[in-house]
Amino acid sequence: MTAAPAMGGNPLFNANRLKLGIFGTNGKGAAQTLVPEAYRPTWPASVKTAQLADAAGFEAILAYARWKGYIAGRPDHASGITLDPFTWCAAIAQATRQVAVIPTVHAPTLHPIAAAKQCATIDIISGGRMALNVVGGWNGPELAMFDAPMAEHDARYDHLQEWLEIVQRLWVEPEEFDHEGRFFHVVRGSSMPKPLQQPRPPIVNAGGSDRGQAFACEFADICFLILRSEEPADIARQIAAYKRMALDRFGRTVQVWTYAYCVQRETREEAERYLHHFSVEMEDGPSLDAWSAGVGSQTKILTSPEAVRAFRQRFAAGAGGSGLVGTAGDIAERLQILSDAGLDGVLLTWVDFVDGLDRFTDGVLPLLVSRGLRMPSRSA
Ligand SMILES: Cc1cc2nc3c(=O)[nH]c(=O)nc-3n(C[C@H](O)[C@H](O)[C@H](O)COP(=O)(O)O)c2cc1C
Repeated sequence: MTAAPAMGGNPLFNANRLKLGIFGTNGKGAAQTLVPEAYRPTWPASVKTAQLADAAGFEAILAYARWKGYIAGRPDHASGITLDPFTWCAAIAQATRQVAVIPTVHAPTLHPIAAAKQCATIDIISGGRMALNVVGGWNGPELAMFDAPMAEHDARYDHLQEWLEIVQRLWVEPEEFDHEGRFFHVVRGSSMPKPLQQPRPPIVNAGGSDRGQAFACEFADICFLILRSEEPADIARQIAAYKRMALDRFGRTVQVWTYAYCVQRETREEAERYLHHFSVEMEDGPSLDAWSAGVGSQTKILTSPEAVRAFRQRFAAGAGGSGLVGTAGDIAERLQILSDAGLDGVLLTWVDFVDGLDRFTDGVLPLLVSRGLRMPSRSA
């Protein structure tokens, strides 16, 4: 087991009880909707949303890795228009001051030697504000483009584990080393310069299956859970069981985060109406169908076609995340419930990120501060 990362300047380890981030602004965000105001990853929009989140004191900007959209034969579909997370995060680091930048990497698409150096470079550019989200891959056609067909589900995590061990070694080892493993053969491997954060930048993982969760508990500092229930007592049990697994099986303390779509309006009815409008009336049907048939069937978190169907609106609204829907007060109350249930952080998504971040910063953030969940932002 590697040592925990330095607690230095990375905001992921600040004192806020409930940490906040934004998710997917290097792509189309998380909604699968046809409304015209839906976010698109132009560079001005990327910078604007990053700077709003940074100024509001958010802890994280997580860029997802997607090489191909969900719909076969439709490379122009919004689900496939994604800016490269590493180069995007390097540039976003330059446009921001305090927020952590978190690129995602699919282990089968990037050699660990290249990944170690790219991460060290972003860590240096950002002044020690990077973290790495590692995934084994769950969208078969994108890995097929690399001639790296998807391995059987749990074997993907074995590969990811060896990949990560090499990356972490490259981040600290002053000398050249050989590695002879099941998946990699490295001769006199080395990487300089080292990342600023020593012994390593934080690791993030969102494995949802039993094997994925065990991987995250063993190797990640920030683990994502898809919440299975809306009930506070169930959520508290799910989070407690997860943290207990990390501690009992691996002797580790991990942060547990989730992701949530946010619909904030002046009244609850207005918020519900807009949610129904963009995620039901204007759902992106072909994209949702393709997702269910492809990615949905690859993951072990949705174990039956019924579960996939039941999740349809959650996927349309925000990639399967939880809902934060209502007035600023409703949203603050829900976030308090999640925090009281043991949650350490939430990645937020909106249909229109600029509008959403403005509303959230004006309406919800002051309530989170008055509830003691967060300190006021330094730039507020
Ligand atoms: C917040 C979050 C971010 C994720 N980012 C990516 C990503 O960028 N690329 C990807 O292929 N999978 C991504 N995933 C999928 C997970 O890595 C994982 O495969 C999924 O949660 C299913 O778990 P399992 O692999 O254990 O079955 C993400 C999941 C979550 C919850």
